[in-house]
Amino acid sequence: MSGALVERLRAARRILLLTGAGVSAESGLATFRGPDGMWEGRDPMSLATPEAFAEDPETVWRFYAWRREQAARAEPNPAHRAIAALQQERSGTSLVTQNVDGLHERAGSPETVRLHGSLWRLRCTGGCGEDEDLRQDLGTLPARCACGELLRPGVVWFGESLPQAAIAAATAAAESAELVIVAGTSSVVYPAAALPELARRHGAYVVEVNPEATPLTGRVDEALPNPAGTALPALVRAAGVRFEES
Ligand code: OAD
Repeated sequence: MSGALVERLRAARRILLLTGAGVSAESGLATFRGPDGMWEGRDPMSLATPEAFAEDPETVWRFYAWRREQAARAEPNPAHRAIAALQQERSGTSLVTQNVDGLHERAGSPETVRLHGSLWRLRCTGGCGEDEDLRQDLGTLPARCACGELLRPGVVWFGESLPQAAIAAATAAAESAELVIVAGTSSVVYPAAALPELARRHGAYVVEVNPEATPLTGRVDEALPNPAGTALPALVRAAGVRFEES
């Protein structure tokens, strides 16, 4: 961690944290890409697209029910908790995540901009407008709405637009951030992957936390090749925020 970064961590009034699946890896949740990734041996086009759901809603629902079970069993790790502590101490901090697992929220993050939705939301595929928190076991899959149409997981699938309010909030945060910390994302899925570049064009100092190189690595001000569960607590402490690991 450079002196310039420590300086910015202490002084920045607007900090943007952009997270991906790698932030939940130390909670035991598989990332998407790479040898142990969730997309290894599975075809995302047959599990995470509107076309796949139209063709075989039961298989798609089972995939998301399995992911919900994994997420429910996982606990937030020091990376999630460090981010929540920073948000609580420094009101100008924004958290934008591509994750749908709910671990940021469970770690105590006061506000989370969810670019890709949530495993814990449901939406009706009909026109009734139902869009709600998942509160109970869904029973027989595929689940149906009270209106009779199929319910779908409240996540964003490949080929779909991101929620308008989320992308607007993320864009505004990127444009006004003085410091951006990008953690645990392969930076290959757009539009999320465009946010660090946007922030940089608006003058932000951009830091990447990832043990592996990504397409973003060569374009950041500083790359920290450490796991998020180690790097984020260190960054948050360097910002002057007291943070207990447990
Ligand atoms: P990926 O699986 O593409 O990338 C995870 C990144 O985390 C990789 O670059 C790893 O090197 C890194 N990583 C692994 N362990 C880490 C650790 N302990 N600390 C820090 N980094 C670590 O996941 P995302 O970039 O989140 O979208 O994927 C983006 C989107 O693609 C997801 O939201 C999902 C997926 O398909 C949809 O489903 C729409």
